[in-house]
Amino acid sequence: MNSAKTHFPKKEILLELQDVWKTYQMGSESLDVLRGVSVSIYKGEFVTILGPSGSGKSTLMNLVGILDIPTRGHILLEKKDLSHLSESALAQLRGKKIGFVFQQFNLIHTLSALENVILPTIFQNVPQTQRIERAKELLALVGLADRMHHRPNELSGGQQQRVAIARALVNNPEIILADEPTGNLDSQSGKQIMELLTTLHEKEKKTIILVTHDQSLVRHAQRTISLRDGKIVSITNK
Ligand SMILES: Nc1ncnc2c1ncn2[C@@H]1O[C@H](COP(=O)(O)OP(=O)(O)OP(=O)(O)O)[C@@H](O)[C@H]1O
Ligand SMILES: [Mg+2]
Repeated sequence: MNSAKTHFPKKEILLELQDVWKTYQMGSESLDVLRGVSVSIYKGEFVTILGPSGSGKSTLMNLVGILDIPTRGHILLEKKDLSHLSESALAQLRGKKIGFVFQQFNLIHTLSALENVILPTIFQNVPQTQRIERAKELLALVGLADRMHHRPNELSGGQQQRVAIARALVNNPEIILADEPTGNLDSQSGKQIMELLTTLHEKEKKTIILVTHDQSLVRHAQRTISLRDGKIVSITNK
């Protein structure tokens, strides 16, 4: 076959959630924050998770990002069931495969932009000079080559979020998880961050999962997952 169609890569599942529950015990009461979430995320996809405050978006991101474990159900990353892995294997996977971007930036205030970006590489087996080079390249990519020795409080909100994105990319993760990354930014800086995420998706082929309650950001994504009261109520394609 010589058709151009044959060159399209097959959709490959990167991440699979199977009947995922998260229950918090509050004294004698138990609170089901996620109630049977099942969904597959494909390699190279840009997905948004939309839902009102308290619907379980961040809880879901923490599970997907291996920062927490489900009470019930299974999460498979590249067909590996996370519940079968040791703590140290999970930490390895988290460090290598996942980059996090949070609403509050979560930078370390005593470190420069450059030092913040280098930080996640410390546990990787790569020579220091190479790690510094990579961090500098990423700061240049996010437009902050001239700000790398600034501390977070010497940067604007949008600049801090760009440092956080550079930090998320430093171990070359497959997946970027962004939880309300524009929530604390003015609309112009928010736009820049969204453009950056879109570029990472289109040019670097990153899989992006973006949590938002801003309906206007949904157009950036190929699929939108709507969450209500800990359940998926709809999945829509662009
Ligand atoms: N550690 C915890 N212990 C008990 N309850 C929790 C805990 N973490 C979250 N919750 C509850 O779980 C529900 C979902 O929280 P979550 O942070 O996932 O919501 P969200 O969709 O991200 O909301 P927002 O848009 O406000 O960020 C909330 O009702 C919250 O109070
Ligand atoms: Mg949240």
